[in-house]
Amino acid sequence: MRTTWTFHTATQLLFGRAAVAQIGYEAKRIGVARLLVVTDRTLVSAGIAAAVVKPLEAAGVALEVFDGGEPEPSIELAESLLEMARRFQPDGVLGLGGGSNMDLAKIVAACLAHGGGPRDYVGEDKLPGPVLPLLCVPTTAGTGSEVSAGSVLTDKANHVKVGLLSNYLRPRLALVDPELTLSCPRKVTADSGIDALTHAIEAYTAVDNAEFPLPPGERSTYQGRHPMGDMLAEKAIGLVGRHLRRAVDKPDDYEAREGMALAATLAGMAFSNVGVAIVHALEYPIGGAVHCSHGAGNGLLLPYVMRYNLPPRKREFAQIARLLGEDTSGLDETAAAERAIAAVEKLRADIGIPNRLREFGAKPEQLRGFAEKAFAIKRVLRVNPRVPTVDDLEAILKAAY
Ligand SMILES: NC(=O)c1ccc[n+]([C@@H]2O[C@H](COP(=O)([O-])OP(=O)(O)OC[C@H]3O[C@@H](n4cnc5c(N)ncnc54)[C@H](O)[C@@H]3O)[C@@H](O)[C@H]2O)c1
Ligand SMILES: [Fe+2]
Repeated sequence: MRTTWTFHTATQLLFGRAAVAQIGYEAKRIGVARLLVVTDRTLVSAGIAAAVVKPLEAAGVALEVFDGGEPEPSIELAESLLEMARRFQPDGVLGLGGGSNMDLAKIVAACLAHGGGPRDYVGEDKLPGPVLPLLCVPTTAGTGSEVSAGSVLTDKANHVKVGLLSNYLRPRLALVDPELTLSCPRKVTADSGIDALTHAIEAYTAVDNAEFPLPPGERSTYQGRHPMGDMLAEKAIGLVGRHLRRAVDKPDDYEAREGMALAATLAGMAFSNVGVAIVHALEYPIGGAVHCSHGAGNGLLLPYVMRYNLPPRKREFAQIARLLGEDTSGLDETAAAERAIAAVEKLRADIGIPNRLREFGAKPEQLRGFAEKAFAIKRVLRVNPRVPTVDDLEAILKAAY
């Protein structure tokens, strides 16, 4: 049983409109002279890479730009990026993009500091010390990777996503400029936005810190629910309730983009200390097999997992309903809690995320295997407020099928 909790985040958060113009100054302040920028061709075409490169060049930082980032990146892609990085020998790494590019930047910063390759650090707390200075600039509003301790890669051979978790992977700088998300297409906005909501809800309804079942001798960046996580998650859920539909329907609505950018970063601060739970555990094998986006997979599963978790978390679900704008006055706690599930189902439909696993091309005979793979991800499952069996996980998937 744990009776203490701690809180880690990025060393510095710089948030606001046009903040990206300050990236050169910040890189110099951190002491970076040779910076590897990890991005992708979409962001180069959209002019977003230039928004980062220009102020860095003006500040006299030597740059190499890798524009080969891909969504849900594979271990193999991280390995080829690492080869290029070893030739350039940077003293800092900047991840520019959604979670995919930021996570690649994190792996490279780790491997450059400690040798070896991405596979050597898969799992919990495998890094022996600090990584190269990491600067993360998100261009989606979703993953919270800019403040988180994690990096997620796709293990193609085993059809599953794998995570590297270490507080050393928290960036030195999270520069969140909501303007960079204005060009996000509808689907990316919806998928990444509901990922942020999933982070906040899984953190807000997690097992309590005092009950967190960490086996003796094991360490975890996840610690179960604590007051700091609750505060951040509540704020994030309210922001998503107010801004996600608008950001999806009116892509150039700056206010909505800013609300979602803040929501994603706050949710990232919450989940990366408290933990994520069954939704994420199930998404890792499903995403690895059917290649849906991480956000779409989570968004689809979220209400089904909420139903499973409702009994021990009625009070929290009732509060989530209110934060999402539902009127719960006059309802008893169970009815109010049910409203949270209905509100998430409605949001999911409004932003165009499927509600059936079959729509991703999953086959009924795959469900048991997904449940078994998810059941093996103990570091995530132990965050859940109910301890699931493999059969429970399979039942959730059958309901979602
Ligand atoms: N490290 C963490 O803590 C963490 C947390 C959650 C998810 N993840 C991981 O993050 C990845 C998903 O990240 P994501 O949802 O941010 O999407 P993403 O990074 O995969 O990006 C999706 C697509 O959107 C494009 N895009 C991004 N920003 C854009 C913009 N401003 N304008 C136009 N196009 C843009 C990208 O080029 C890409 O093609 C997954 O691999 C997931 O597992 C990591
Ligand atoms: Fe996520």
